Amino acid sequence: MIYIQRRENFSASHRLYNSSWTNEKNFDIFGKCSNKNGHGHNFQLIVTVKGNVNPETGFVMNLADLKSLIMSNIIDHVDHTNLNDDVEFLKGIIPSTENLAIAFWEILSPAINDHGAYLHCIRIIETENNSVEYFGK
Ligand code: NI
Repeated sequence: MIYIQRRENFSASHRLYNSSWTNEKNFDIFGKCSNKNGHGHNFQLIVTVKGNVNPETGFVMNLADLKSLIMSNIIDHVDHTNLNDDVEFLKGIIPSTENLAIAFWEILSPAINDHGAYLHCIRIIETENNSVEYFGK
């Protein structure tokens, strides 16, 4: 088993807000991340794929194909959007970095399997100091 990684970037805004709570409780839990008009990040998405090396290509999976999958399935849908309102596959989900990682996994994992490889990790860097890793369970 060998691991390959591809990084893509996207810029988006979000608001951390639970609509079943009062504004006060939202502020207690989420602080200024619950401010009404949201805030933005330059996110980095790092996708790690694992598999065996194909002896004919020397690749686990063609990184150009992995880039295309990430762009068409994820980045094209989330870049320069409001993650609370604009993204069909995030409807009804609080767009925390954790929930983004889970949603991206659900979409990318089957698409990568179609290329004979396996999704190993979704890593999302939200700020210099805050990031999330998800391994599918
Ligand atoms: Ni944020």
